[in-house]
Amino acid sequence: MEVFIVKDEQEGGKKAFELLEKEFNDKDIQVLGLATGSTPESLYREMVASDLDFSDIVTVNLDEYVGLDENHPQSYHYFMNEHLLSKKDFKESFVPDGMKEEEEATSEYDEIIRQHPIDIQILGIGQNGHIGFNEPGTPFDSTTHKVTLTQNTIEANQRFFEEGEEVPKSAYTMGVGTIMDVDTVILLAYGDHKADAIKATLEGPVTEEVPASALQNHPHTYVVIDQAAASKLEKDY
Ligand code: F6R
Repeated sequence: MEVFIVKDEQEGGKKAFELLEKEFNDKDIQVLGLATGSTPESLYREMVASDLDFSDIVTVNLDEYVGLDENHPQSYHYFMNEHLLSKKDFKESFVPDGMKEEEEATSEYDEIIRQHPIDIQILGIGQNGHIGFNEPGTPFDSTTHKVTLTQNTIEANQRFFEEGEEVPKSAYTMGVGTIMDVDTVILLAYGDHKADAIKATLEGPVTEEVPASALQNHPHTYVVIDQAAASKLEKDY
């Protein structure tokens, strides 16, 4: 893993964009894996402001809540349109279909990924070390599947929902195995509430209890973190 420690989230967005641009210049990038949540927003702002041409790029998102359709303001479809997909021209974009039954939604998504192998995957990380919605204990060889969200994740995501509105209890997510198959990963984390997860991911044992720790065995992962998220690291980077 190649680690970049930056001052703050804005600098992180710039650094992540620089890495993305370098990959685009050096390789034939066709498929970009995207994430939702607060973390990638500064990167998406850089992408929107840039003159990089994405019109030949297919995007594939990590996950979606079960039961939310694409017009629901808290769905990940909606989030992606708001922050990136309606602002830049892409060839085609995929997000798991939260309105479909488990078997259809997950097998359809694995087939989409098989047809569009992911060149670069953008990742955030949960405070419990989740990537996508792969909660602790998810097998490292998992493909797209339905997950029951942990209480910790439901509480962390409550901030995106209106008062009194319930966070869905389950989601469809690419698996850890799906993520490990991508060519390049750019993992982002900002804030001291991510410091324990980053410490466990980079310096802890590789264990299914910390899904992101699988990335220690990924051949080409960049980690872009701010000083707060890096504050518990013991090694020099
Ligand atoms: C989002 C996703 C999640 C988030 C993680 C961090 O598509 O898969 O793993 O990246 O929960 O969320 P934020 O960025 O809101 O702290």
